[in-house]
Parts: sequence; structure tokens; C-alpha cells
Amino acid sequence: MTVPNNLLHPFAYPAKSESEFVNVVSGEGAVITDDTGKQYIDGMASLWYCQVGHGRRPIIEAIQKQADKLTTYNVFDPFTNEAAREVAALIAEKSPFDDPRVFLGCSGSEAVDSALKIARIVQQRRGHSGKQIIVRRTHGYHGTNFGGTSAQGIALNREGWGDLVPHFLEVPNNNIEELSKVFAEHGSNIAAVISEPVQGAGGVWPPEDGYLQGMRKLCDQHNALLIFDEVICGFGRTGSWFGAQTFGVTPDLMTFAKGVSSGYVPLSGVIVGDSVAQEMAAESDFLFRHGYTYSGHPLSSAAGVANIKLIESEGLIDRANHVGKKTVEGLDALVADGIVKGYRGVGAMWAADIGRDAIPVRNDMLTRGVIARGVGEAVIWCPPLIVEDEQVGQFVETLASSLAAV
Ligand SMILES: Cc1ncc(COP(=O)(O)O)c(C=O)c1O
Repeated sequence: MTVPNNLLHPFAYPAKSESEFVNVVSGEGAVITDDTGKQYIDGMASLWYCQVGHGRRPIIEAIQKQADKLTTYNVFDPFTNEAAREVAALIAEKSPFDDPRVFLGCSGSEAVDSALKIARIVQQRRGHSGKQIIVRRTHGYHGTNFGGTSAQGIALNREGWGDLVPHFLEVPNNNIEELSKVFAEHGSNIAAVISEPVQGAGGVWPPEDGYLQGMRKLCDQHNALLIFDEVICGFGRTGSWFGAQTFGVTPDLMTFAKGVSSGYVPLSGVIVGDSVAQEMAAESDFLFRHGYTYSGHPLSSAAGVANIKLIESEGLIDRANHVGKKTVEGLDALVADGIVKGYRGVGAMWAADIGRDAIPVRNDMLTRGVIARGVGEAVIWCPPLIVEDEQVGQFVETLASSLAAV
């Protein structure tokens, strides 16, 4: 049977034939199955997002119920819908803010671009017309729209597209002195700093002690807004609802996506903290001229509501810490045996430092039925929060076997 070759895959070589891809046909819990019947432990929760695991009936049924009632309608002025209202209220309740506003989209990239634009317009409306610079961190990943591409601290992802968005400055990762120097030099022109609480796609880099606090302080001193990109960290990944709570630092704006719906239907957005939200609503003639056709989509909103309730009822926020404990036990043993150099991570997102190119090891693990990710010299593990202890053990054993084999 010939396989049609029309699908252009993201982050893939267009020259690669469609028949070489793993054709995923089903998923249950933390396991997926391909079209040959081979099973894999989903050690990346698909792409850092499937907190509750695959095939969960409460979410599937909530989507079906919503589809039967109202499958689609927009929330541009003058329209709204119950599902969008409810998911916004639930997200607000879990956030570190008292009474925030929640803007909705579909992808993390949309969330990032929305947050960047909100930060810029707030500064413009404050009369700070020169405040346009967005500070980004090395290793940061903020999606692939033009805004997010410009905000990325992964140089290869920024190269080759021609001119990106102007007014971005990069600071080396986890270095508060360098950030403070950038503020000393450009403070009056800085609109915002964008940072993941734990950098994810760049290789799982937790913040050094006090770094996010220092970042908050510098933003306050220079009237810059702090944007936390919680697209990976949000909804339990770091052992709290948001990374902001894990590290005890409250930003002005927070992006979210991925875990908010466990990816059952694409959902994302920006949580606008109380003070910025109040500022935006202070003048009745200010029109927020931004939005997406699918903002507040009833199906994604219904999926989000059911997913957040499931995370809560199954105690998956605490479970992330348990997954972390089990992962650390396994990785400690590999370090003691000299099999891996070290590891880093928080909650249920970990990177094992193997001291050499991780891609061949990742590929070998795939043939052994464990999905991990390779970034530089790190093998990454970010499983669904419902992953069983035995499956954590299988990840660790497979990592050891693949390191021995490759
Ligand atoms: C921190 C962060 N921000 C933004 C994005 C972009 O999200 P999306 O791929 O849904 O556009 C990602 C995706 O991995 C991410 O990890």
C-alpha cells in the first residue's frame, strides 16, 4: 500500500518519507500504540501536554456533550458562551491572582504573541512609547509564530527566516547580574521580560535559587512587565497549578496551553493579572483589538473544564511530585553506577545529562518502546502525571540499556 506523502510535518525534514514516521493509532493511560501493534510508554506526554493520560472518558464525554449542544461559536463582541466563561473562571481560580482576566486561544504560540502584544499595548497606553524591548533568556522556547520566534533563546530556531520582530534582547540563562546590566543600560525602553519558570523545550533548565525573584524585582524597579510562559509548566507539571506558585513569584501576565486541556482539543491563553486587567478595563472607550477566530471555542473550553476537574479530583498536582520522587530515585541509581552524569528538573519534568549527543540514545529508546526526547546531551522525561511507578522504572531501565547499546 502506498502512503500519501502530503503531510508536511513540523520540526521534521521535508525530504523524509511519510512511511518512516511512527503512525500512532491509539492511546490508553501512559501508553500509545502504533499501526503495527507496538506499544510505547509515552514518556513525553505527547509533546509535554497530556497530563491526564490518553483515552480519558470524562473529557471525551464532556466534548461530546458540548458538541451536541453548541459545537462552535465565536466570542468576539457581542457573543459569549457558557463553556468559555466556565473555563476562564476555573483557570482564574487556579492562578496566583485574585481576580484576573483570561484571554483564550488555541496554541501556545498564539498565547505568547498575545502576551507580548498585551505587554506592548499596556506600556503604550501608560504613555511609555519608548518601552518596546522584550528581554528573552538563552534556552527559552516560546513557540514559532513571528513573536514567539523572536522571543526564543534557541538561536537555530530564529535563523533563516529573514527579519524577525525588532526590539528583542537576550540575556544569558540564570544570570541575574547580566539581567541587571541589561536593565541598567536599557531599563527605560524595556516593556517586558519573558521567561518560562522552568525552561522546557530548551532542555529542562530549572531557575537557580532567587533568579525569578531577582527578575521580578528588576521588572518592578524599571516599570517593566513580567511574563511567565507557563505553556509547559502550567497545570501541574511542576507540582503546583503553575510554576509561579512552585517558585513563589507572581508575574503580571501568564501564558498557558498544553496541560490546560491535556491536548484533547487545542486550548491556550493568557492570564492577565489583576493590576494589568484593571488598567485595561479602566477606560470604557479602549477597544482590545486582538483575538482569534477560535478564541473561546466551546469544544476546547469544555475539554479544558473537564480536564481541570479531572486533575483536581485525581490529585494529579501532588502526583507530579510523586512522579518526580520516583524518577529521582531511578536516576540517582544511574548516577551512582556512573551511567549518567547527572540530572535536573522539577515535579514531573526531568533531564538526564548523559554527557554525549542524546539523539541516538533517544532513537534507541524508541525502538525499545519508550518515548523520550533528546536535546543536546540531555534525555528528557515528561510523562503524563498518571504514569505508574513501574513505568517510571521502565524509563530508567531503558535509558540504561540504550546507553549501553549505543
Ligand atoms: C514554553 C512554551 N511556549 C510556547 C510554546 C508554543 O506552543 P505551541 O506549539 O502550542 O504553539 C511551547 C511549545 O512547546 C512552549 O513549550
